This record gives sequence, structure tokens and C-alpha cells, in this order.
Amino acid sequence: MDRRFVDCHSHVVPSGDDGAEDIPTGVALCRDAVEHGTRLLFATPHVWPELTLTAAREHEIRAAFERVRDRSPIELRLGWELTPTRALLDEDPRRYALEGTDRVLMEVPFTGPADVLVALATHTEEAGLRPVIAHPERTEAVLDRPVLADELAERGWRLQVNATSLLGRHGQDSAELGWDLLDRSVAGIVASDGHRRTRPPHLDEAYALAVRRLGEERALPLFDGTALGLSTPTARAPSQAA
Ligand SMILES: [Fe+2]
Repeated sequence: MDRRFVDCHSHVVPSGDDGAEDIPTGVALCRDAVEHGTRLLFATPHVWPELTLTAAREHEIRAAFERVRDRSPIELRLGWELTPTRALLDEDPRRYALEGTDRVLMEVPFTGPADVLVALATHTEEAGLRPVIAHPERTEAVLDRPVLADELAERGWRLQVNATSLLGRHGQDSAELGWDLLDRSVAGIVASDGHRRTRPPHLDEAYALAVRRLGEERALPLFDGTALGLSTPTARAPSQAA
């Protein structure tokens, strides 16, 4: 199929979290993404409060990333998904940028308030980078008070909805909220947040629904990297050119 999607959020590189458990699984997920129309995939291992990015962990992840990338028929780049913590406010957010962009992916915590997220996104902006706010439609803070999503977007921050939310895989409330954020152009990116074979990095099914609902002209920029400044395909690396 036509490979047009840019997926800025996935867990296809083994990294000791809840994503791909080994290299073959990561490679299989990358192949799967290609077959479902993705041309550029970001692997974004979790940076959790209980699993931070120590130098040793980063070294291991980068080695695993290279092994997956060199075996996969896709342009694979490395990034991170930050769970907001106060400790991250003392770090240089440039360490966590999505490779080749000025964006930093960070999630709205699934439970509890969003105040540390706001602090981290502000800290990111102050470093000259731009936050991408992951899956607001799945979180207690936004489901309880949906106008919070509008407030985050009004700061100029890009909101990213999960494809699986749009497909109803995280319940009706998240589906309705996800579509509402797209309908009103509050969210500007759809990504897979693919973790494993049972939750793969696919965007095609959600894209088909979005085209039906919003029309192709509005739907495509949500899926093709436009919001990340990546809508034009880049040259493929030599290792991927075969
Ligand atoms: Fe994620």
C-alpha cells in the first residue's frame, strides 16, 4: 500500500518497559507498520518515574534501536515518551527530542492532575523545543475536565490522539473525546502508541475513519507528519535502501 504515514509514538524497541520484549518482536512490529502504510516511525521508549533514563539504560536502548533499525524496512528514528516528573525539570529537554525534530513527546498522566505536565511542557518551550502532548483522551484529568485539552492547545502545544482510541479500543469515553478533539482541531496529530503484536503500530484503520469523518484534506495532515514538519519524505539511509 501507499506509505504515507508518520507515526511519532511507538514502543517497538526493547527498552525494559512494557513495549517490545526483544529484537525480533521489534523488527516484526516495524515490518507490520510498513505493511499498514507507515513510512517513518519513531520508537519512543518510556521514561517513567520508576524507570528513568540512566546512562546505562540509554546505552542499551541505543544499541537495541540500531539492531531493530538495521533489520527493518522502514525509516526508524529514536525519541522518548516522558511521563512528567519534577526531576525532569532539572534536565535539558534536548536530550529527549524526537530525532531530527524540535519536538519532545510527553504524556498526560493517566491519573491525577496535569500540573507537572504543564511545568514540563513550559520547561521544554523555554529550551526552544516544542512539546507534543500524548493521548489526552485517555487520561483522568482531561476526561474529567475536557476543557483542559483546549487550554493545553491554546498554549500552542500539539496534542496527539491515539489511533486505538479512535477505534474504540480504550472505551467509549476515550473514543468520543478523541474524535471531538479532532473534529474541533484541538488535537493535531494521530499516532499509534503501538506496544506489542496485540497492540501494533497501525494507523491505516483510524486514517480510513478520519477520512470518512473529516475528509481527506483535513485527515491527512493528522497522519503524515505535517504537524511535526516531516510531511516530505526524507532520503532513506543506506542501510535501509535495499
Ligand atoms: Fe506510549
